[in-house]
Amino acid sequence: MFISEALGVNEAGHLTIGGADALALAEQYGTPLYVMDEEVLRTNMRNFKASMDSYYNGNGLVLFASKAFMCKEAARIAAEEGLGLDVVSGGELYTALQAGFPAERIYFHGNNKTLRELNEALDAAVGHIVVDNLTELETLDRLVCERAEKAGTAGIESKNFVPGRDCRILLRLKPGIDAHTHDFVRTGQIDSKFGFAIETGEAMEAVEAAVKAAYLFLDGFHCHIGSQIFDVEPFTLAAEVLAGFMAQVKGRFGKEIDTLNLGGGFGIQYDKQDDALPYAEFMKAVSGTMRSIFEEHGLPMPYVLIEPGRSIPGPAGVTLYTVGAVKTIPNIRTYVTVDGGMGDNPRYILYGAKYMALKASDPLAEATQTVTIAGRYCESGDLIQEFTKLQPVVPGDILAIPATGAYNYSMASNYNRVPRPPVVMVKEGQSRVIVRGESYEDILRNDV
Ligand code: LLP
Repeated sequence: MFISEALGVNEAGHLTIGGADALALAEQYGTPLYVMDEEVLRTNMRNFKASMDSYYNGNGLVLFASKAFMCKEAARIAAEEGLGLDVVSGGELYTALQAGFPAERIYFHGNNKTLRELNEALDAAVGHIVVDNLTELETLDRLVCERAEKAGTAGIESKNFVPGRDCRILLRLKPGIDAHTHDFVRTGQIDSKFGFAIETGEAMEAVEAAVKAAYLFLDGFHCHIGSQIFDVEPFTLAAEVLAGFMAQVKGRFGKEIDTLNLGGGFGIQYDKQDDALPYAEFMKAVSGTMRSIFEEHGLPMPYVLIEPGRSIPGPAGVTLYTVGAVKTIPNIRTYVTVDGGMGDNPRYILYGAKYMALKASDPLAEATQTVTIAGRYCESGDLIQEFTKLQPVVPGDILAIPATGAYNYSMASNYNRVPRPPVVMVKEGQSRVIVRGESYEDILRNDV
């Protein structure tokens, strides 16, 4: 009946999230409210880890793409579950470090890292920097050399990695795969701002520069072909292209690159039409392809990284709203207005993202109405969903939008100076605040 493992119905007939009554949560914390089910979050992490163990014999690491949902508690949980972390900014890095996340399991991404961010990554001694372009490669090389000179460690002839001086890198590559998803989240094809294209020769040029750099250690390659992908094929194709490139690099430089990061992008179910594959299916297919290609090239299987973002916190999250005005425009549509919108969930206005809605007091009732759920922001496009089925609702009812655990809180804004809602974590029916809701004082915090 429901699309998310986080959801249930209790004896009162109310919707539950992680065993907690949605109406009670709304009452206790107010709305809008982000609710995360800890069990679902951890189970998703464990499932990815388990399939890494079974399909790659544990020779790899699952990196949580923190852009999907980042706060100190998310970083702590990822650390406890033994995951690595993909960070893409100084802010994500800072959050991870403040939460005590082990720096050696952090991969620093980004297509235009600032000088400050590169220095922060070096100061923290993150495990790897994922280099996006030649400008960045040169800058990083210069920074690492300058630091070595300053520390008096420059010029030491050593083929071995010197901790504190050297920097391990991956190169972000564009395998040229079109992942058949929304244009805005398609990143693997040549016309993308991310990474080095393989077919133009740019990627090989970058390998050459990386191999020459004194204190940079090229450990491997990375690609991320898109997001919310339901097909296995783009992933197996990307793995094929990258494996082939690794073999070419081995032939040309005699250098064994032993890490392959295949990015994230695994699709999740937002509404009943979405047909999400179990993650293990992706892992099974991709690992099979990799095994045969590496065998063909006479190369050992690499250390494999994957970077699931949405598929870890997405299904764990539910957003609760209170219904305000219900406006019926005869022969056109009925607007059900809620007390949140594009400030806490900009995904409909950005991508036309799909969501389903449930009346929290009676989620099993038949959804007899077709409504448009509108937000409270001063913008006509501020909608959560258009022409969606919903149980009859009246002002004051609580509405639940499932599958809002990824890219909702993390992309929230203060548009119209509306404070961002709190995030509450629920486990076995018990709830705790993991991110406090903002106050008006918070809104004014940086005003001069
Ligand atoms: N790794 C890299 C390098 C990425 O760029 C991304 C997402 C991921 C991993 C995680 O991808 P996921 O497993 O979440 O699909 N804001 C958009 C999604 C943008 C994704 C950007 N990169 C949305 O709300 O749909």
